[in-house]
Amino acid sequence: MTYDLEAVRAQFPALALSDNGKRRIYFDNPAGTQVPKAVADAISDCLLTKNANAGGYFASAKAADAVVQSARDAMADFLNAPSSDEIVFGQNMTTITFHLSRSIGRLFRPGDEIILSRMDHDANVWPWVLLARDLQLEVRWLSFNRETFEFDLKDLDKLITERTKLVCVGGASNLTGTINDVRTICAKARAAGALSFVDGVQSAPHIATDVRDIGCDFFVCSSYKFFGPHQGILWGRREVLERLEPYKVRPAPTSIPGCFETGTQSHEGIAGITATVDYFAAIGASMGEAVCGRTSDDSSRRNQIRAAMTLLFAYEEQLASYLIAGLGSIDGVTVQGITAPDAMNRRVPTVSFTHATARPSAVAEALAGENIFVWSGHNYAVEVARSLEILDSGGVIRVGPVHYNSIAEIDELLAVLPRILGDRT
Ligand SMILES: Cc1ncc(COP(=O)(O)O)c(C=O)c1O
Repeated sequence: MTYDLEAVRAQFPALALSDNGKRRIYFDNPAGTQVPKAVADAISDCLLTKNANAGGYFASAKAADAVVQSARDAMADFLNAPSSDEIVFGQNMTTITFHLSRSIGRLFRPGDEIILSRMDHDANVWPWVLLARDLQLEVRWLSFNRETFEFDLKDLDKLITERTKLVCVGGASNLTGTINDVRTICAKARAAGALSFVDGVQSAPHIATDVRDIGCDFFVCSSYKFFGPHQGILWGRREVLERLEPYKVRPAPTSIPGCFETGTQSHEGIAGITATVDYFAAIGASMGEAVCGRTSDDSSRRNQIRAAMTLLFAYEEQLASYLIAGLGSIDGVTVQGITAPDAMNRRVPTVSFTHATARPSAVAEALAGENIFVWSGHNYAVEVARSLEILDSGGVIRVGPVHYNSIAEIDELLAVLPRILGDRT
């Protein structure tokens, strides 16, 4: 079976909603996706039948423990982590990064160097800049090529020195959509004896994540960007996590992963994570055979997830290339990202554009009037917008389709855009 869009859409109640007779078109997905009903049901079930603090002797506390363990197992499959003990939950990616950065910083000395990227969301930039200020570390910047929207990794070779202690980079940009070659970047960090911290928030919804293959030390993502609840998730390499001194209160667990999970967790959110991973696995099981073929252990959840991501990404490549071609035919539009039709596998379908005269916020507001949801501005990718010299002109209009969007929805956007852009000149 190939991709069955209608079967997928039917699982998302929000996709059927209308306002004033106009069906909602969600292109705001890079800022947060809709959830399948099964995810909402799992959250509700946790609150209604498993609501207790963890670690007790009684039934509801045991059920809460089981919820958390199931979600660790699910995320270990989703990320291909060697062990579920290496999965840490938290409120969101930003909070986890600020929190972990304090422990990671304890490994560094004044004068040590860290490498940050100008392609990254501020959540993988500013926690490290502030850490560098606190500890007198030197920050070195990896820029990207403004024509190709990609890094030239020879630049990274020039930045790495014997004092480099950490390299931070994103899996995919939330503004340009570029998929970064994190595997090579992490290999270069490792060869220099530095740690690597990958922000996978925008890659995890689109491409299969394999932390073993990437070879990073840390990988962080947020399930609300991949059809799940508002939760942050960290994978950390066991030997590195065990070297860190956690910032924790005295009675909290002393061993990983609990020692990095400050305070009481959102068990209902964590329950939703398992259902989210199972959503992908079910797509892989029912539709993924054509893309992955059969192997002896095809029925494992990990393989089903991989099959689903491969299938869904192939569909998203079609959406991206259709959207980019359509935008390219509108006067005055510049796509701020990779546009070559044969390079759709080097980007996620998050497509940002600027217009010669129309202000991005005015365009987003006018699209909202059509019940087409998009974001405008820098979208917290401050360094990216600054590098592209669009920070002061209001950033971009960001159209972020995902696998539940259709070509027909893109057509609706493309039909109204020329008028909206023309009206705002
Ligand atoms: C690439 C990237 N990193 C990090 C974040 C921050 O994620 P969170 O909201 O989970 O803190 C976002 C949110 O948009 C993002 O797009």
